[in-house]
Amino acid sequence: MSATLICGISQLVTNDLTMGTGRLGVIPDAHVVVSDGVIQEIGRGARLPAADYRIDLRGRCLIPGFVDSHTHVVFAGERSSEFAARMCGQPYTGGGIQKTVAATRSASTEELRRHTALLVEEARCQGTTTVEIKSGYGLDIENELRMLQIAHEFTPEVTFLGAHVVPSEYAGRADDYVDLVCGEMMDHCAPLAKWVDVFCEPRADGAFDADQTRCVLAAGSKHGLIGRVHAAQLGPGPGARVAVECGAASIDHATYLTDDDIDVLQAAGEKSPVVTFLPIVEYATRHPFPDARRVLDAGLTVALASDCNPGTCFSNSMSLAISLAVHQMGMSPEEALWAATAGGAAALHRSDLGRIVRGGPADLAVVDAPNHLYLSYRTGVPLVRALSPAELAGTH
Ligand code: NIG
Ligand code: FE
Repeated sequence: MSATLICGISQLVTNDLTMGTGRLGVIPDAHVVVSDGVIQEIGRGARLPAADYRIDLRGRCLIPGFVDSHTHVVFAGERSSEFAARMCGQPYTGGGIQKTVAATRSASTEELRRHTALLVEEARCQGTTTVEIKSGYGLDIENELRMLQIAHEFTPEVTFLGAHVVPSEYAGRADDYVDLVCGEMMDHCAPLAKWVDVFCEPRADGAFDADQTRCVLAAGSKHGLIGRVHAAQLGPGPGARVAVECGAASIDHATYLTDDDIDVLQAAGEKSPVVTFLPIVEYATRHPFPDARRVLDAGLTVALASDCNPGTCFSNSMSLAISLAVHQMGMSPEEALWAATAGGAAALHRSDLGRIVRGGPADLAVVDAPNHLYLSYRTGVPLVRALSPAELAGTH
């Protein structure tokens, strides 16, 4: 098996506190040896190990690839006119989801697959090496299954979001739809998913209340799926409390978390869901940015993700999420980078991801800068890209 040496690393961010210094485990003047997609060696200084291939970063920074733990990238169509209306003062209500459901149902599987592939590749080009992908634009058995199958082609981190909203054919019969999601739809979809998610939001058109959310999470749990909850996106709500009750892995958005919510999360201790902030959504829906400081100071684990979807955030830029978290949410550059890598991994229960350690996967991204601070210091400048498996194997 051939080995590739990555050298000339001005700053290696490992997220491994036993290896480097500071809260990101930083090693200056570093090198890494990779073989067969696995990190074989990490070192520093001028003496370089022998290898078959060499990638010289010439004074750039190497970080763990971003772990984007919340996306909706399987869909058809687009909603730029809804976006324009929002920028002219219309609020986001979730009503536009039905438009994407109609477009997704009528798209061919090949069309959906091609579009998903483009978005996943676009994310990789910006440094993302792991994506979670949700269903939720099918909302019937056949189309939810199609979405989950496609998601599976791109990631093991697949989430069943049958409880995204009540589809139009069930308008006025939300409980009947919840019965379908918890029953026949769950039976078909659970084998293709690892996670189950619910849009728990009293203010959104067709989203689900606390009891309905409990039902869906409990039905998922019977099939071995762990919960995730879209919580407190448009206003304070029951999502965080229900997520704790049901042992969910993550609450996402958390835009309007109350002090009581934070107390409940804190009281859950080790079992507290990760708080996943999606700051590009606040940016693109003109909601206030959440105060991440309050959540971090409560000792909770924080992740940052994109939420890439055609409605609230048609962006998969983890660098933008980091930059907004630093500029607008009270996070330090270190906290934000950790949240976008190891934090995302924690939200997905993947201790193997989000760090650069010997024996771990070579999920690596180059920052075209001497240190990681530039991610938010040079806001809006595309500095990051993931190293591809072909580059790492020397076959590029
Ligand atoms: O996470 N809030 C619910 N779901 C998505 C938006 C979906 C859409 O508008 O298409 C979100 O923001
Ligand atoms: Fe979402």
